[in-house]
Amino acid sequence: MADLLSQSMFPTSQLEEADHDGHNETANPTMGEIISRRFSRRGLLKGCLAVSAISATVSPLALLTADEARAAGGSAFTFPEVEAGVDQTHHVADGYDADVLLRWGDPLFADSPEFDPANQSPEAQARQFGYNNDYVGFIPLDGSSEHGLLVVNHEYTNEHLMFPGIVKVVEKADSKDPSKMVKALDIAAADQKRVDIEMAAHGGTIVEIRKVDGKWQVVRDGKMNRRITAMTEMAIHGPAAGHPRLRTKADPTGTRVFGTINNCAGGVTPWGTYVMAEENIHGYFMGTLPANHPEAQNYKRLGLPEGTYAWGQFHERFDVSKEPNEANRFGWLVEVDAMDPTSTPKKRTALGRFKHEGAESIVAKDGRVVFYLGDDERFDYVYKFVTAGTFNPNDRAANMDLLDDGTLYVAKFGEDGSVTWMPLTHGTGPLTEANGFKSQADVLIEARRAGDLLEATKMDRPEDIQPNGTNGRVYVMLTNNTKRKDDQIDAANPRAKNAFGHLIEIAEENGDFAATKGTWEILLKCGDPSVAEVGATFSTETTKNGWFGMPDNCSVDADGRLWVATDGNSPSGTGRTDGLWAVDTAGAARGTSKLFFRVPVGAEMCGPLMLPDLKTAFVAVQHPGDGGDDWEGFGRLSYYEDLSTRWPDFKDSMPVRPSVVAITRQDGGKIGV
Ligand code: FEO
Ligand code: CA
Ligand code: CA
Ligand code: CA
Repeated sequence: MADLLSQSMFPTSQLEEADHDGHNETANPTMGEIISRRFSRRGLLKGCLAVSAISATVSPLALLTADEARAAGGSAFTFPEVEAGVDQTHHVADGYDADVLLRWGDPLFADSPEFDPANQSPEAQARQFGYNNDYVGFIPLDGSSEHGLLVVNHEYTNEHLMFPGIVKVVEKADSKDPSKMVKALDIAAADQKRVDIEMAAHGGTIVEIRKVDGKWQVVRDGKMNRRITAMTEMAIHGPAAGHPRLRTKADPTGTRVFGTINNCAGGVTPWGTYVMAEENIHGYFMGTLPANHPEAQNYKRLGLPEGTYAWGQFHERFDVSKEPNEANRFGWLVEVDAMDPTSTPKKRTALGRFKHEGAESIVAKDGRVVFYLGDDERFDYVYKFVTAGTFNPNDRAANMDLLDDGTLYVAKFGEDGSVTWMPLTHGTGPLTEANGFKSQADVLIEARRAGDLLEATKMDRPEDIQPNGTNGRVYVMLTNNTKRKDDQIDAANPRAKNAFGHLIEIAEENGDFAATKGTWEILLKCGDPSVAEVGATFSTETTKNGWFGMPDNCSVDADGRLWVATDGNSPSGTGRTDGLWAVDTAGAARGTSKLFFRVPVGAEMCGPLMLPDLKTAFVAVQHPGDGGDDWEGFGRLSYYEDLSTRWPDFKDSMPVRPSVVAITRQDGGKIGV
C-alpha cells in the first residue's frame, strides 16, 4: 500500500483497510479467558490426534501420510500449480488461457466512445465499462454456459491511477516515525468533472457475452447491455421504504434515490436477478451532522461520514450537514432485473443496512430462499436472510418481490460449535422502542445496533459467504483483524492480531439452509504454515505456493468445489500477490490449497466465478498498479504518470486498467478436473 499524504485525498481499498478498530464499541462476548480449542470433528473422529498437535500449525488431516490421504480421496483439483511471486502481469496454470475480456473504459454500446483516458468525460464513462471490477456473475441466456449476461460490480475509483496530471510526489514525515521523511503522493483537489467521472465509473455493468470458437466476446450492441452508476435512479422497497429517516429534500417520499456506491461482492438470485452489495458507504459522505442530530448514534456505528471522496463538494446530498438523511439511503442490497434494461433497480431494505459484502443465495428445502450476508468491518457480524415466500421455478414474475418480505438473522457462534441465527425482528427481545426501535424499519436501518443488542459474535471482518448446494455447507471468508486483542479471542475468532484471516464452515441443521441453528468449525486458518507462530492450518499437502492470507471473495462451482480469491497479500505480509486458490473441503485433502491464478503487482483478486459447465472461470483483477513501492524490483510510488504496471495493454499511452479475465482450458476441457 502506498504511503499516503492524506487518506482523505487518496481513495483506495483503504476504505476497508483503514487502520481503525472498527465501529463496534459493544462489550459483546468474546470470552477472552476461554482459549479456543475447537477442532475439526473429522479430526476428532480419527481418534489419534492429541490436542497439542492440532492446536499447533498443522491441520489434523495433514497428519495423515500422503498415501493415506490419496487413498481417502485426494484433491478434487487437478492442475499444475502457479508459482507465487510478483511481476507486472497475471499468471494462470499451465494448459490454460487467461484472456482479458473487459477492461475499464471498454465501450459497451454501439454508440459508446472509444476509451481515451487523457480526455475522459462523465458521459463517455457512463457508456463504458466502469472501474475496479469486483463481483462477477453470469445470467445464462437459453440456459447456456456459452451465451449470457455478465454482471459486474464496480466498487470504487482510484484517482491517482485514473487521471493524468493530478498527482505529484512529495516528502512528508513518516506517520510511524515522524523523525523520518518519506515519499508520498499528493493529489490535486477535485473538480466537478473529475467527481462526475468517478460517479459514472461506480456501480455496475450488465453486458451480453458469447463464446465463439472457444473464446469469449463482448456483444457490444446487446439489447440488455446497461451501465448502472452512482446517478442511476432507483426505488427503495421493503419495510424501510418511505420511512421519515429515508426522506430528503430531493425525495420527500423516501422511496426514490439516485445511485448505488461501493458495490463489492453480490449475487445472482435463483430467479436470475443481479444483486449488488453496498459496502463501504462511509467514505462517500462528508461534513458534520447538525448538533444533537438523531442519526448521530446510527452514523457513528457505521463510521459515517469519513469524507474520503470529494463528491459532497459538488453534490450536496453527500454532505451530511446539508442532507442528513441521505446516508440512510445507502448501505443496502440493490436488486436489478438484468433482463429488462429499462427496469428500475430496487434497494431491498428487508435485508438490512450495514457494510454489505455479498449476497449469495440458495433455495432451501421448503422453497424459501436464503441469502448469506457479511458485514465487512472489524468486529462486525455475519447475517442471513430467509424469504417469507417460496421460489417458483416456473413463474419468474412471481419471484420478483420475494426480497421484500422475510426474516433477517444475525449469527452467534457458540464456543460449543453451535451457530444460532437470531432474528432481527421488531418487538422481540431487546428490539423495542425502549431501545430506540419504533418499527421494523428502525431495526433494519440500524441492523448493526440491533445485532449488538442480541450479542451477536464479533467477527474478523466477514467478507463473501457461499452456500454449497452439493453438501449443505456454507463457507464464510473472514479476511483478517489485526486489532483483535488477546483477551478478545473466541472460538470462532481464535487468533489475536489475526493478520491472515480464516475460513469457517457452517453446517445448517439437517442440511436445511433456512434452519435457525447449525454447527460450525474452522475450515482453515490462513497464513504461512511454515511459521509456527502464525498458527495456519493448511494441510501438509499444500505447497509453498499453495497457502494464502486474507480470503475475500469466493465461489463454489457446480461440482461443489471451493475457490477463494484474496485481498491484501503483500511483500511484508505473505511475500506474494493476491490470487485465486483452489481449496479442498472434502475427503483426506480437506485443507489443501493450490494457486491457480495470480494478479499483477498492486492488484487484488475479485470475482471469481465458474460457469455451470466448468469450462470457464471469470476473475476480476481489481486496482492493478495500486502500489508497488514495497515490492522488490518496483521500489517507487505508483501513479498515472509512473505506474508499477501498465497491465493489461502495456502501452505507454494507456494507464493500468482493472479488467475481467476469462480463463479457459486450452484443450476445451473442464477447469481443474
Ligand atoms: Fe470490498 Fe470487503 O471487500
Ligand atoms: Ca470483498
Ligand atoms: Ca461469491
Ligand atoms: Ca476486501
